[in-house]
Amino acid sequence: MESYLESKGRDFVMIKIENVSKSYVKDKKSIDDLNLEIRDGEIFGFLGPNGAGKTTTIKMITGILNPDEGDILIDGKSITKEPIEAKRKFGFVPDSPDMFLKLKGIEYLNFLADIYELPNEKRKERIEELTKKFEIYDNLNSEIQSYSHGMRQKVVICGALLNNPKNWILDEPMTGLDPKSSHDLKEMMRKHCNNQNTVFFSTHVLEVAEKLCDRVGIINKGKLVFVGTFEEMKNKFKENKSLEDLFLEITENEE
Ligand SMILES: Nc1ncnc2c1ncn2[C@@H]1O[C@H](COP(=O)(O)OP(=O)(O)O)[C@@H](O)[C@H]1O
Ligand SMILES: [Mg+2]
Repeated sequence: MESYLESKGRDFVMIKIENVSKSYVKDKKSIDDLNLEIRDGEIFGFLGPNGAGKTTTIKMITGILNPDEGDILIDGKSITKEPIEAKRKFGFVPDSPDMFLKLKGIEYLNFLADIYELPNEKRKERIEELTKKFEIYDNLNSEIQSYSHGMRQKVVICGALLNNPKNWILDEPMTGLDPKSSHDLKEMMRKHCNNQNTVFFSTHVLEVAEKLCDRVGIINKGKLVFVGTFEEMKNKFKENKSLEDLFLEITENEE
């Protein structure tokens, strides 16, 4: 059966990163002229070693940081020029779930539901559905600060998905999740894309990316060093190498 991507001709751009550069300190570019297009309906894995620039890129996509140069469009809306419209287009799971610690889980989720202007009936149903799926339903009346890392991660994920946004943007989402939750999240990501939505996530776990992603981008020292499918990656580099060796080679050779 023809997949959604094939039926759409694989050409509709959902997230467009154009000539983006960013420095935290003078004369040291943490992101150096990044260009990347995420297509509608794909799961895109953003790979790279620690300090490569994954989180910085995701912070710029989601409007937490402004690029020094270039711009980012989400479903045609510029995150720098039309931030509110652009922010309506995605749900975001940051790399650290340590926020709003004084709120109870249910207060945090209701707070997000308020922001998304989710009607009462709908929010109740959605909160129940998501938190039962991630098995934190029974903990919603405790403060987030009493949660384990994995539980915090889960409540943040539930919050980001409350509104069922078309685009999911997740920074290292599997970190800290137990195997079952990690498995459930991966299934949800796949299902989300099969329903004609888009997922952009970063990871340093290659096996996760290989199993899940339609395409990947590899970033190293702020520069994009590869974009494509795993098949293309294997063809471009030496085929007999393991994925791990390829990754190490790609990210070591670039200066
Ligand atoms: N707040 C900051 N101030 C200064 N340098 C930073 C800051 N955040 C990140 N960096 C630097 O930017 C580079 C990219 O970091 P980051 O985007 O967090 O990488 P990744 O998420 O791929 O591990 C690293 O060299 C890091 O040290
Ligand atoms: Mg990071």
